[in-house]
Amino acid sequence: MRSTFPKSAGAGAVFPAACPQLRPSAPVSHADPTPLTSVSSGPLRGLLRVPGDKSISHRALMLGALATGKTRIRGLLEAEDVINTARAVTALGAPASKSGDVWEVLGRGTGGLAQPKGPIDFGNSGTGTRLMMGVIAPHDISVSMVGDASLSKRPMGRVLNPLRSMGVDVDGNGDRLPLTIRGTSRLVPIAYELPVPSAQIKSAILLAGLGTAGETTVIEREATRDHTERMLRHFGASVSTVSDAGTTRITVKGGAELAGQDVTVPGDPSSAAFLIAAALIVPGSDVTIEGVLVNPTRTGLYTTLVEMGGDVTFLNPREEGGEPVADIRARFSRLKGVSVPAERAPSMIDEYPMLAVTAAFAQGPTRMDGLGELKVKESDRLAATAAGLAANGVRAEVSGDTLTVHGAGRAPGGGRVATHLDHRMAMSFLVMGLASEAPVTVDDTAMIATSFPEFRSLMAQIGARFAPVEAP
Ligand code: S3P
Repeated sequence: MRSTFPKSAGAGAVFPAACPQLRPSAPVSHADPTPLTSVSSGPLRGLLRVPGDKSISHRALMLGALATGKTRIRGLLEAEDVINTARAVTALGAPASKSGDVWEVLGRGTGGLAQPKGPIDFGNSGTGTRLMMGVIAPHDISVSMVGDASLSKRPMGRVLNPLRSMGVDVDGNGDRLPLTIRGTSRLVPIAYELPVPSAQIKSAILLAGLGTAGETTVIEREATRDHTERMLRHFGASVSTVSDAGTTRITVKGGAELAGQDVTVPGDPSSAAFLIAAALIVPGSDVTIEGVLVNPTRTGLYTTLVEMGGDVTFLNPREEGGEPVADIRARFSRLKGVSVPAERAPSMIDEYPMLAVTAAFAQGPTRMDGLGELKVKESDRLAATAAGLAANGVRAEVSGDTLTVHGAGRAPGGGRVATHLDHRMAMSFLVMGLASEAPVTVDDTAMIATSFPEFRSLMAQIGARFAPVEAP
């Protein structure tokens, strides 16, 4: 299937597909919650594609803006988070627009972005916000950044502090949005060890380093997704990655002239996760998703599902646009509980709500360690996931950064789940309702459009049943 242009991108955010110039900073708001119930569904079956990877889509737009000339992007994720990044680069003087099936960015060259006319609204997107801080940093411009209620609660100091040590100034209130970031063309390079395993922090520093004289280094103790490094190389930057004794040093040489490129975005494994998990827990299911990104920094969930006894196979492995891709087939399986090591967390950080729901349908406990970062996602996913499970009769405990789900091979369901403006909470618990004894209701589905606007229609295409509910 082809992703369609998001019609439900919030108030003021509907763009005619025939004339896709973006209006910078059009507000994205989700005033009216849209609850939804999922109900026990028959076997899920089908062969389909999921929309483009969100992480790669953000980066393609940003590097396109920093390159000289035209970048053409196929398979860009047309979800609100990425559309906000497209608006942001447009507001910074590098127009992004759609021509036929392809998105084009007219890049301004490294250091060439312009002062935007007003604040830039990043909606719900932590990735868009944090990576753009790095993009803006080496420019003599001052950019006001705003976001929705969820984004305005999320910590930005983790990116702003290293950028400050390079020379950036920030006006704001306690390192939360709204804030104003003041870049400078005279940044100084740093070597920075990540205090938490975060690809967003790594990427912001590398993107700032691209416009900084000298070499900027990020030191990682745990591998995080490496799309920024891969794409920087694809655009012609010099990036070295050296691993030694459990530490990796990633160094970018500043001042490189990037040239506009063709980019193909593979299917998002974090979106595919919902369909794959659904196939594993709904009896009789057999679902194949074509063209999914299987970069090892992203596949921790799939490793875990196989360890649980899930019948998950990777077909036709290949490389597309510098990233490994495969077709993933999943069939209903009798799952068993497992222990998921903390080291695996960065490679499946967005998939824990879905794994926790899946674990309810396994026999025995599933223990997930090292989940501290879940507390600062679009919601506190550790608490929200445990609460959602409890609301549906599944025993789960949180102890420190560990979540244990006591799988009983079934879930009673029947609960209403608070999603806290978090798309992945909504999708995970809607999947639960397809296999639980009683329907599951989520209090809001509007945020699903931030990452996976086609979720409901693709799920319905394979046989999932949903029932709209009246808002209370
Ligand atoms: C992302 C990195 C992860 C992830 C987010 C996307 C990225 O965040 O949760 O959805 O594209 O770099 P952290 O880097 O904060 O772990």
